[in-house]
Amino acid sequence: MNAQEIERLNQALEHSHPVEIVAEALERFPNLAISFSGAEDVVLIDMAKRTGRQFRVFTLDTGRLHSETYRFLDRVRKHYGIAIHVQFPDANEIERLTTQKGFFSFYEEGHSECCGIRKVEPLKRILSTLEAWMTGQRHDQNPGTRARVPVVQVDPTFFTDRLVKFNPLADWSLKQVWGYIVENGVPYNELHEKGFVSIGCEPCTKPVNPGQHEREGRWWWEEATKKECGLHMGNVQKG
Ligand code: ADX
Ligand code: SF4
Repeated sequence: MNAQEIERLNQALEHSHPVEIVAEALERFPNLAISFSGAEDVVLIDMAKRTGRQFRVFTLDTGRLHSETYRFLDRVRKHYGIAIHVQFPDANEIERLTTQKGFFSFYEEGHSECCGIRKVEPLKRILSTLEAWMTGQRHDQNPGTRARVPVVQVDPTFFTDRLVKFNPLADWSLKQVWGYIVENGVPYNELHEKGFVSIGCEPCTKPVNPGQHEREGRWWWEEATKKECGLHMGNVQKG
């Protein structure tokens, strides 16, 4: 599909229910994969399962996830009877980074180097094999950077000449996501019962108080506009 066709598809789907967007995406792109780490992504997996179509799922194991997150990944794998492809960072790069700078360089230097090695490069490797991918990004997740994320787009960050990115939950609120999870008995990360809302790596995520925005629990030592790890950096570049 060229950029105009993708924009037309976005216009046709932007007011559709996420389950219809997921179904349309899987029908058009058999080679699509769902990127999975959080609550939103299991909603997408649940919806994909309902379509009865084959679909692929991957997760980026940064090596710095909470134990609760590993247990959650495994519960999802078993609950849906799916294979979750686990993508690892380059071992040489991790050895270089941690030998030179230790395990917490991000608190002093910002998160971009570590996220670059542990998330972005592995993501790029997997995206190089795909025609399309699907994420759980939502507008209200990060008003500074995600407010205008469309449901279908040419990927604004990677392989921009050929990769399609679906964000079926773009217009859903956090409340709608949790409404779906509760109503459909969808598995969730036990950290949500301990005050965590948006969950990333263990050293870079903390629980939030009621009334605090979910994003305040991520990279809390950095300013709001920098709170993208690079997976969705195209959102930032577009302003
Ligand atoms: S992040 O860029 O700040 O880390 P966030 O946690 O908000 O992203 O999640 C947004 C979407 O990015 C998720 O719904 C998921 O599709 C994708 N994503 C984030 N982290 C991972 C990961 N570790 N593995 C796979 N996909 C991920
Ligand atoms: Fe590294 Fe933190 Fe980024 Fe995880 S979130 S890759 S630990 S900087």
